[in-house]
This record gives sequence, structure tokens and C-alpha cells, in this order.
Amino acid sequence: MKKLLWFSLPVLLLAVLGESDWWFADLPSDAALAVPMPHAASISALSDQAILLPLPHLLPPAPDKVALGERLFHEIKLSRDNSVSCATCHPLAKGGMDGQRFSVGVQGKKGNVNAPTVFNAMLNFAQFWDGRAPTLEAQALIPIENPLEMAANLSDILVKLQNDPAYQKDFLQLYPDEGVSAHSLADALASYERTLLTYNAPFDRYLNGAKQAISAEAQAGYLRFVDLGCASCHQGAGIGGNMFQRFGVMDDYFRGKPFRQADQGRYNITGLESDRHVFKVPSLRNVAVTAPYFHDGSAATLKEAVDIMGRYQLGKTLSAEDERLLLAFLQTLTGEWRGQALR
Ligand code: HEC
Ligand code: HEC
Repeated sequence: MKKLLWFSLPVLLLAVLGESDWWFADLPSDAALAVPMPHAASISALSDQAILLPLPHLLPPAPDKVALGERLFHEIKLSRDNSVSCATCHPLAKGGMDGQRFSVGVQGKKGNVNAPTVFNAMLNFAQFWDGRAPTLEAQALIPIENPLEMAANLSDILVKLQNDPAYQKDFLQLYPDEGVSAHSLADALASYERTLLTYNAPFDRYLNGAKQAISAEAQAGYLRFVDLGCASCHQGAGIGGNMFQRFGVMDDYFRGKPFRQADQGRYNITGLESDRHVFKVPSLRNVAVTAPYFHDGSAATLKEAVDIMGRYQLGKTLSAEDERLLLAFLQTLTGEWRGQALR
């Protein structure tokens, strides 16, 4: 019941926002309303459009906040020893993630979960694998204090920025009442991240009416994605990112593996046994360029990840044809950033 609640909140929000043209310009509100329940028994009975939605065109935040946020995103001063910026682990020229199983923070410290891409993260209903940050603003300051990432004290970082005349000036101009503060720092970073949407993926062009934008094989893969039940979890405009689900619905993915706290998922947040191994269903946008996969980076290739999903989430051994078609479809989810397809 809790999962259904979690799930219906963003749908309701979409439905409400879908009413106003300037906000979700391209989102048909009736399609948003028709998104099915996560465990809908017969997905194949629903129309294509109902489940996966094109990337919405959203009003971007104020350009000067975005520009400040972009500088901060690339700013090594946000780390304790001026060695690591957000972009170190989320390089935008490389799919918005570092391509490593576990990211490396200050002094070579290794994290314990795989870095997700920052592209389209704004579409997620919560941030982090375990959903512990409700918004981009709430997320933005957490890496600064994470001992395995930027390993700093927020107050020290604010002082560092206040002592930098250029930042001091720009912050005061944009946030006259507060200058450099925890709030303005998070606001600027999140403003930039809200522009990190990757439009013009072949699949979006297809959904928007260009039926030739994806191959016949990819179209068959899209139907397979819906019919097999992948779309019961990976759905909406993010093709994921709008619900929590257990990793290992049909079989225990963690059986025989050494215990790791990070594998406990939302259990670490709620303490509820029913949340053990429950994670945010990740967005599959740009998934072809964001290997390795899963919160633990345990799948090196997309084919491996798809097979594991078939087995552990759907209880099915995928045929060679299933794999081929699903991979062809997933390749069409790669969008563009600044006029270039992500890679
Ligand atoms: C040392 C590497 C590292 C640095 C530096 C880093 N991140 Fe991350 N980022 C990660 C990892 C790993 C995760 C996943 C953590 C988790 O889910 O618990 C993550 C998660 C995120 C997410 C959530 C995405 C999602 O889909 O849930 C966002 C947004 C993000 N980071 C933005 C930032 C910003 C902004 C900064 C700079 C202030 C930053 N990151 C600095 C490694 C890093
Ligand atoms: C019951 C819900 C559910 C179903 C059904 C499901 N998934 Fe997933 N999927 C998840 C969850 C949860 C994760 C994250 C698991 C983790 O890393 O802890 C995930 C992760 C993935 C990833 C890795 C993404 C990344 O960035 O690391 C891929 C690829 C994927 N799923 C594809 C599929 C495909 C293809 C299907 C259908 C064959 C499918 N999924 C069916 C819930 C589901």
C-alpha cells in the first residue's frame, strides 16, 4: 500500500501540472493520468502512449542562477582538499557519470554505490538509490559532507566561497538577502541540474510522431519492454525514477553475496523489514552510455543487466530474441546534450 501511495503521488502531480501549458508544454494530461499501477496484471492491454512518455519541455530556471550553478558544479573548492568537483564523478561529456563501479572521492577514497547520471535526475521523484533526498536541492549539499566523496564541512566550504570575491559578488547579486549560504548554494546547483535534460532521443522523436526515428527492431523491442513487464516499473517521462521496488522480486539477488550495508536499500532509511533491498527504480534514459549498472555496479554490460532484470524482477529467462530487441530499444533512449548525442 505504501508503494502504491508513493507511486500515485508523482502521477497526481503530473496530472495537476499537466493542466498548465507553460509548465508541461508537451505532456498530454490524459496520458499522464493513464499511467498504470506498478503491478498491473495485463500491461499489453494498455496503449503504448500510456506508459512511457516523451521528455517534457519545462520552463528553465533563471539563466544567471544556472550559470552560477554550472560554475559551482565544476568547482573543486567544494571539496575539503580542492581535489574533487561534482563533475569529477558526474562528467557531462561522459553520460553524467564516471563509468566506474564505485566512484573515487578525495584522497582516493572509494564509495560503496555506483554513481547515477545527473542527466534528467530532475525527473526522479526522489534522489539517490535509496531515495533519501526528496529534491535536487536537498541532495546537492550531501556529497560535500560525505566522507567518501568531498569529505568537507559545509560551514568550511561556505567560508571558502565567501572569501572568494567573484563568488561573493555573484551570490550577493542573485541572493541579496543571504549571499553565500547553504540555501543559495543548493539552489544554484539545483538550478543548473534542472537544465540537464537530454532531448531529441530517437525514442522521443518516435513518441512525438516520427515513426521512422527508431528501427523496426527497436519498435519491436519497445513492445517487448511493455509486454514482458519492464514498463510496469520503468515508466513515465523518466522511463523509471518514479517508484521504489525490491531488487529481487522473483528471486534473491543477494543470496550468497557478502553482507553490505549499502545493499539494504531503503531499509537503511526506514528500518522496515519490508524495505530491505528496496531501491528507486532508476531512469533508463541514456542507459546505453551509463555502464556499469545497478546500485552496486555489479553488471558490466547492458546485456548482463537486462538478463538479470528478466530473471530477478520478472522470473523469466529471456530468449536471445528478447535480449536483442530489448537492447535495440534501450539504445534509442540516448538523448542529446548541447547538440551532441551522449556517449
Ligand atoms: C566522489 C564522487 C561524487 C561526487 C564528488 C559527487 N557525486 Fe553525486 N553521486 C555520486 C554517487 C556514488 C551517487 C549515488 C549515491 C547514493 O545513491 O547513495 C550520487 C548521486 C547523485 C545524485 C542523485 C541521482 C539519482 O539518480 O538519484 C545527484 C543529483 C548528484 N549525485 C549530484 C551531485 C552534485 C550536485 C555534486 C556536487 C555537489 C555531486 N553529485 C558530487 C558520486 C559523486
Ligand atoms: C519489479 C520492478 C522492475 C521490473 C519489472 C524491471 N526492473 Fe529494471 N530495475 C528495477 C530496479 C529496482 C532497478 C535497480 C536495482 C538496483 O540497482 O538496486 C532496476 C535496474 C535496471 C537497469 C540498470 C539501470 C542502471 O542505470 O543501473 C536496467 C538496464 C533495467 N533495470 C532494465 C530493465 C528491463 C529491460 C526490464 C524488463 C526485462 C526491467 N528492468 C524490469 C526494477 C524493475
